[in-house]
Amino acid sequence: MKKNRVCELLGIEYPIIQGAMAWISDGNLAGHVSKAGGLGIIAGGGMPPEILRAEIRKAKEITKKPFGVNLMLMMESITEQIDVCIEEGVTVVTTGAGNPGIYMEKLKSAGIKVIPVVASVALAKRMERIGADAVVAEGLEAGGHIGEISTMALATQVAREVSIPVIVAGGVASGEQFLAALSLGAEAVQVGTIFIVAHECNVHDNYKNLILKAKDRSTVSTGNYTGHPVRVINNKFAKLILDLETKGATKDEIEELGKGKLRLAVVDGDVEHGSVMSGQVAGLVKEALCCEEIIKKLMTELKEQKIKLDEKVSRLEF
Ligand SMILES: Cc1cc2nc3c(=O)[nH]c(=O)nc-3n(C[C@H](O)[C@H](O)[C@H](O)COP(=O)(O)O)c2cc1C
Repeated sequence: MKKNRVCELLGIEYPIIQGAMAWISDGNLAGHVSKAGGLGIIAGGGMPPEILRAEIRKAKEITKKPFGVNLMLMMESITEQIDVCIEEGVTVVTTGAGNPGIYMEKLKSAGIKVIPVVASVALAKRMERIGADAVVAEGLEAGGHIGEISTMALATQVAREVSIPVIVAGGVASGEQFLAALSLGAEAVQVGTIFIVAHECNVHDNYKNLILKAKDRSTVSTGNYTGHPVRVINNKFAKLILDLETKGATKDEIEELGKGKLRLAVVDGDVEHGSVMSGQVAGLVKEALCCEEIIKKLMTELKEQKIKLDEKVSRLEF
């Protein structure tokens, strides 16, 4: 049987990647996702290099299978973080917040697969030209920092313009959406929101409960005005930011207000005054499961939906 290109590239069983989530996806979550056959990713953004090393070692204690690290390229300690990844034998790196160009040779000569997260066709093409192994095309449905194009519109445009594998992120939490992503041109999906409620996820219970209670319209995009939009649950904090944006607060004031707010929600459980990043699919996340169950459920639903779709299409005339 011909293998899926992303599974082959990353050495994983299922084309499901647990996207990096700052303060949330640690070595424990990433290790358990990889152990279950997907690809877990440790969020390196904001992590001092020695903490990153400790999280990588935690993941290695949980599984011998591959897992990845997400690097935010504007971080001051980016060179040290890259050194830690190389020393610890990490095999996959996803990148955001900058151009990985200057680090590409170092990462690739250490045998690391480099997968930038992109929100436009132009960036996807540039990443392919500089040697990226695949790209994550992330739509504005996703939780956290987002671009301006929906997954539906972005994925196919990217997939038609690059020949490296495309991984679709943003808006996937069910078999229907997984199948749609493959149909749009993806060879794998990156999911985040669905893993926030995983048993192995160390986020505060208040955060998990807010995701479990969420509906289709529970998230909003803040920070559009600063040029750095972020999708969060619409709580007191989000309302405050949106209000300040309409009153014309400066970009610096808004950014200052956002500092430490994700940690406040994730670690301290203050889900009113903290930033509760979440994707629009939170409304579909209705039960807490373990990582293995989440992955198996997505794969089973994908297969069921494929059968239903074939049936639907077979009733059409062409
Ligand atoms: C709480 C949260 C934090 C996130 N932090 C990061 C991050 O640090 N780096 C990154 O590249 N993506 C980050 N993302 C995006 C995810 O990696 C993933 O692409 C996204 O969640 C997929 O869309 P979904 O939320 O619809 O599943 C974050 C998402 C969430 C929900």
